[in-house]
Amino acid sequence: VNGWSPFGGPFIPDVNVSRLDTGDAESCREAAKLHMAEIHYGLLPFLGPRFLARLYQGLAATPGAPVWLARDQGRVIGFLAGCTDIHVAYRHLMIRHAFSLALAAGSALYRPVVLRKIPALFLYPRCHRPAADASAPSTESGAHLLAIAVTQEAQGRGVGKQLVRCFEDFLSAHGVREYRVATNAEEPASNAFYPALGFQPCGSMRHHALTLRLYKKLLSWEK
Ligand SMILES: CC(C)(COP(=O)(O)OP(=O)(O)OC[C@H]1O[C@@H](n2cnc3c(N)ncnc32)[C@H](O)[C@@H]1OP(=O)(O)O)[C@@H](O)C(=O)NCCC(=O)NCCS
Repeated sequence: VNGWSPFGGPFIPDVNVSRLDTGDAESCREAAKLHMAEIHYGLLPFLGPRFLARLYQGLAATPGAPVWLARDQGRVIGFLAGCTDIHVAYRHLMIRHAFSLALAAGSALYRPVVLRKIPALFLYPRCHRPAADASAPSTESGAHLLAIAVTQEAQGRGVGKQLVRCFEDFLSAHGVREYRVATNAEEPASNAFYPALGFQPCGSMRHHALTLRLYKKLLSWEK
């Protein structure tokens, strides 16, 4: 412990952050539980913890789509899922894992609230295609931070920042210079978190009944 967060408890400087191993079903369930507890918007929470556990297992098995877990004394207190290319990651998930994901969602798939939201889920990566402009070749990558959450008790103690740092090191090692994230415009914590970490707002989009605020961050390679 080497400091005190302005709005939480003491900083946790030595949180153990590691990559989720696709064979580690228990950690997949812990990440799913954390997602259900802390991210209340969008379609995914409606699909339930079994779906989310399968989703994180599928992502961990997808090339260029790592999931990190932050642990304190063995307990998962945070996770981050991201990818070097959202189109490639979606395609891989659909081709390799669609059946097991549907099975894990079970009867939740037939809830009207879910059926209404499914088309937007499939269209989500398309919303992030760079605008075609022949005169100015795009420098945008398809890299995305897909989801991040920290347990309520551990929030404001530097855990989210450490998870983002791991993801950025991974992106830099894969030659990515820029990445994006979308978050509910009405969530004060995430809309304070991203700018504090150097993200710039770069627009907004409608998704389901939500307005998502988009942020991008340029990565410096001289870390
Ligand atoms: C957003 C979230 C992941 C941040 O994680 P965290 O561990 O609490 O964040 P950190 O302690 O690492 O904070 C990093 C920086 O963000 C700032 N920050 C984080 N939460 C903040 C808040 N609620 N208000 C103001 N600033 C905040 C911190 O001040 C810190 O800035 P600094 O580096 O200048 O000190 C966490 O609040 C959370 O899980 N929220 C619920 C889930 C969610 O909204 N996820 C995003 C959707 S994808």
